[in-house]
Parts: sequence; structure tokens; C-alpha cells
Amino acid sequence: MRALAGSAALCLLAGLLGCKATPPGRTETAVVSFAKHHVFVGNKKEKNPLPDDAGTLADGKEAFSHYCVACHGLDGQNTGVPFADHISPPIPSLASPNVQRYTDGQLKWILDNGIWPSGMPGSKGTLSDDELWSIVVYLRHLPPAGSQGAPEMYTH
Ligand code: HEC
Repeated sequence: MRALAGSAALCLLAGLLGCKATPPGRTETAVVSFAKHHVFVGNKKEKNPLPDDAGTLADGKEAFSHYCVACHGLDGQNTGVPFADHISPPIPSLASPNVQRYTDGQLKWILDNGIWPSGMPGSKGTLSDDELWSIVVYLRHLPPAGSQGAPEMYTH
């Protein structure tokens, strides 16, 4: 019986995640968002080992400007990213309450693993733990939207 219930849940998930081609409807978005916050995304309790200070923030901004800027913009709010609204799911503002509600540990998990099946890549193995934790600090102190200009790669 339990196996049956499990496979039903899996089918439901596959159904939800499978429809990338059409923009997600409201209910579906809410369900996926709930599932991400409560089920998929691990490490809820893990604490950031780095100090929340100017040095870490500068390191995080630096790493972000190399590895995340192409999709999220320098400000983490998609400024100047031409396709941000045109892909499915669209790229969220990292300053939005939905993203900020994650714990530090969950953000680190997202950066390690990425979000399947969207375009959000995992960085485990590419970036060191320290770089990823410093990015988490940067995510907590994002500059005002638009204040950093557009990523260089889209302005030249
Ligand atoms: C190739 C484009 C791309 C790159 C590069 C990228 N992201 Fe993303 N990111 C996305 C997309 C697309 C989403 C939306 C995923 C979703 O909602 O399913 C996303 C979502 C996120 C989220 C929110 C997840 C959620 O559940 O709402 C965070 C946090 C994030 N990215 C951080 C980063 C960081 C930090 C980097 C650099 C280490 C990075 N991303 C690099 C495309 C990218």
C-alpha cells in the first residue's frame, strides 16, 4: 500500500514538473513552491560557517559576479538579463520573499545541487564551500535593484 501511495506521489510530481513548455499556472506554482520549501530542499538547519561581515560579503559578490551574473544579473534581481522573463520557469528575483524565506542551509543546498529541471545549475565541484557560503551572505545583502547596471556580457 505504501509503495502504491509513493508511486502515486511520484506520478503527481512528474506531472507537475513535466510541463515545462507551458508557463506554470497559479496553483501549480504554489504547489511547487510549497514542495521546494518543505520537501526537496535539504539542509534546513545547517548554519553558515562564515562570518556575516564586509569581507565575506565582498567575496560573495565577487563569486556571484562570475558564476551567477549571466542569469541573475549583478544585483540578483535580473537587471539587464534579456531572457529572464522568457524562460519557463522565469528567473525569480533573488531578493523576493519566496527566496529569502529559505534558511541559509537551504540556499547552500540549492547552490550545490541546482534546481532540476529548470535552468538553475548546481555548483558543487565548481565552486568551493567557502565561495558558496559567501554567496549566501551576498544573497542576504543584495544591493538595490538596478544599482549595479547590466552584466557586461549583454552590453558589449
Ligand atoms: C543558466 C542560468 C542560471 C545560472 C548561471 C544561475 N541560475 Fe539561479 N536560477 C536560474 C533559474 C532558471 C532559476 C529558477 C528555478 C526555479 O524556480 O525552478 C534560478 C533560481 C535560483 C534561486 C531560487 C530558487 C528557488 O527555489 O526559488 C536561487 C537562490 C539561485 N537561483 C541562485 C543562484 C546563484 C547563487 C547562482 C550562481 C552560483 C545561480 N543561481 C546561477 C538560472 C540560473
